Amino acid sequence: MRNDLRARNHPGWWAFAVHRISGVALTLFLPAHFWALGQALAGEERLEGFLRWSDQPAVKLAETVLVVLLAAHLAGGLRVLALEFLPWRDWQKSLIAVAAGATVVAGLAFLLNLY
Ligand code: HEM
Repeated sequence: MRNDLRARNHPGWWAFAVHRISGVALTLFLPAHFWALGQALAGEERLEGFLRWSDQPAVKLAETVLVVLLAAHLAGGLRVLALEFLPWRDWQKSLIAVAAGATVVAGLAFLLNLY
């Protein structure tokens, strides 16, 4: 138990946790996304109605969380691939910080575009 807690007190563990949580959350979102796109099959009116519903602030907030999760998963995934496929370099230790920075930039850019 004590060893488990010590393992979590490390940026690498948090990078893993963010990557897993964001990956599972994106997977859970995917069916909802396909359902939303499927509204177009029921006609233009139906899709327009759904898009108007999605203009609510709470939905915009949820979209922002989703964008941050996707950005975190993309940046974290590229980090894992760099560790896996590139020869080891010292700067790869800094990739968690680079991935976190890219995630914040993506989230802020989305928010700036909203308001
Ligand atoms: C945007 C580009 C993406 C990249 C570069 C990427 C990259 C990766 C990588 C490298 C892994 C393996 C991590 C590891 O072995 O430690 C992974 C895991 C995973 N990805 Fe992605 N991914 C992307 C998009 C997505 C999307 C759109 C979804 C879901 C719809 C998704 C769902 C998952 C899940 C569920 C896992 C397993 C997580 C785990 O076992 O911890 N990924 N991704």
